[in-house]
Amino acid sequence: MKKIIIASDHGAVTLKSEIISFLKTKNCEIKDMGVNSDDSVDYPDIAVTACEEFKKGGYDFGILLCGTGIGMSITANKIKGVRCALIHDLFTAEMAKAHNDANFIAFGGRVKYSVPVIKMIEKFMDTKFAGDRHSRRVAKIMDVENKC
Ligand code: RB5
Repeated sequence: MKKIIIASDHGAVTLKSEIISFLKTKNCEIKDMGVNSDDSVDYPDIAVTACEEFKKGGYDFGILLCGTGIGMSITANKIKGVRCALIHDLFTAEMAKAHNDANFIAFGGRVKYSVPVIKMIEKFMDTKFAGDRHSRRVAKIMDVENKC
């Protein structure tokens, strides 16, 4: 059973509910870090809370949502150990896992995607990290955290 953390700001509350409903049909264990209302909040606060919870361990991956997915992904990628991919189609969903071994994926609740977000999440979940030369590249990404 996959354990997944999910969090959104006020810009993606409905999308978060849709994703949680979908993940329940996949028998996933879900940690919902909020928010659950349209009241305005600051997405960096939500991203940091979710990433810190993720880093406690035991989660397979995380999903971050805001109006565009951009603010959440920018913030998450500043947190040590997090590789958050901003997904926009099935190809990037697949590559985020196969090539980048992303441990967070981000979407926007106000974005008009050409494919449903749950299909992109399904693609990400069904894909395995390709390893090999991609392991070297991911290791180099993580080195940047220590060097820069
Ligand atoms: C909030 O209005 C909006 O800026 C936020 O949800 C997100 O799109 C930021 O990247």
